[in-house]
Amino acid sequence: MWLPKLGILTAYVVLGVTVTLSADEKDCFCKIPLKGEVDDCSCKIESLDSFNNLKIFPRLHSLLNKDYFRFFKVNLKRPCPFWGDDGRCALRDCHVDKCSEDQLPPGYKESKQEENKYTKEAQEQLHTDCKEQKELGGIDKTISSEDRESFKSWSKYDDAQDNFCELDDDNSADMEYVDLTLNPERYTGYKGESAWRIWRTIYQENCFKPDTPVPGYGPAEARGAEGKALQSGLDLMRSLKGMCLEKRVFFRMISGLHTSINVHLSAKNYLPAANGYGKGTWGPNVEEFQKRFDPETTNGEGPQRLKNLYFTYLVELRALAKAAPYLEQEDFFTGDEKEDNETRNAVKDLLKIIKSFPDQFDESRLFQGNNKEAQQLKEEFRKLFRNISVIMDCVGCDKCKLWGKTQTQGMGTALKILFSGDTMGPDSTVDAQQKKNFQLRRSEIVSLFNAFGRLSTSIKEVDVFRQLIKEKDST
Ligand SMILES: *[C@@H]1O[C@H](CO)[C@@H](O)[C@H](O)[C@H]1NC(C)=O
Ligand SMILES: *[C@@H]1O[C@H](CO)[C@@H](O)[C@H](O)[C@H]1NC(C)=O
Repeated sequence: MWLPKLGILTAYVVLGVTVTLSADEKDCFCKIPLKGEVDDCSCKIESLDSFNNLKIFPRLHSLLNKDYFRFFKVNLKRPCPFWGDDGRCALRDCHVDKCSEDQLPPGYKESKQEENKYTKEAQEQLHTDCKEQKELGGIDKTISSEDRESFKSWSKYDDAQDNFCELDDDNSADMEYVDLTLNPERYTGYKGESAWRIWRTIYQENCFKPDTPVPGYGPAEARGAEGKALQSGLDLMRSLKGMCLEKRVFFRMISGLHTSINVHLSAKNYLPAANGYGKGTWGPNVEEFQKRFDPETTNGEGPQRLKNLYFTYLVELRALAKAAPYLEQEDFFTGDEKEDNETRNAVKDLLKIIKSFPDQFDESRLFQGNNKEAQQLKEEFRKLFRNISVIMDCVGCDKCKLWGKTQTQGMGTALKILFSGDTMGPDSTVDAQQKKNFQLRRSEIVSLFNAFGRLSTSIKEVDVFRQLIKEKDST
């Protein structure tokens, strides 16, 4: 009942669309980007906003600059198991001037086969895209020799811990440390068919499908347009009502991740230098944001997308709270005693705040009962999630892949925490006493905190956009 209402009110807030509101309401909306409850949670968006922006964000921001958290070990060279070469020339080895025809995206190729009209214009556009992607999507792999040296003692330390389970990649020679602070998640120029295919695959093949088919949901409609991927996913959302809670949760988490990534791309958008020379700058692009979240351009789905961001945030928040007793015992070893002490204290401080949040997501509502069906669903949930992290190997832009992997692994770690331990529910925890049954490895901890950091940043950025839109509309 309040959903349509929320849509209108949000329209006012997010877009400055004039609607008649009582003075009381207006006051309220000037302070918040969205209003109401986060679906499937008992939590209000208003309280989440101030909790995040004032308490969580500043702490996380400084914590994630610590050595322990800023170096993420990742394999960016794992081949994509689902389809061959991405086909896009603008990838890691893109040589802008040497796109051969078989390197062209399928969209171009098909049109050539069909009508033999692969135009010069398209080729030029592709070259421009290639150049942009190569410049913006690459990874800065700078690591000081001092840091490189200390990684050796890290791995010695980590190997000495008895690890409960293998992460598939951990021993691959292609694993390498990347400094996340040198590679901020921002607009990279990665778009079009290639980027769209990733989201299409995730939504179409790997999300739980709604019980009834959704009209108008298909590749033809969305082909080639990046924004349409989101649209396709959200078409699914309309029939979410028929899905059980677990499937909705899964879908919301994926949508929340997608929303978060899009908020970052809008907030750290590339603004080329005015005269066309020199370096461009990075900053918020209100039009980009509105294109993705404005109820008018999104068929009214924008506010729901934003709500899913809050939802995903709550799930990861709860995972951190649940694992707090475990994390409070963690060494956060980097070999620099002073730094490690500081990191431990900063983590404890953050966890204290996180634990104080009153409306935690209640994971015990999921997979209820011990029956076969619940177990099966849990297993399906796990498999699908794993599949989504594998799809990240197919992302054709290194920087996007880096952050895609960090965030899906962080989300996977959150789920692992939520469904570990003998009990589930708001008061349950996992702690170091259970170490035989439950363990987190360095990369899981690093990805969990960084993934949560991304969501926290997004919520803060949404607030900035709200201000900008208000300013824009009042001039
Ligand atoms: C780090 O903390 C430990 C105990 O908490 C303390 O004994 C040690 O002196 C601290 N080291 C530094 C360099 O601050
Ligand atoms: C994993 O994803 C691929 C590619 O979309 C798909 O073909 C496969 O069936 C998926 N597997 C599972 C278990 O969902």
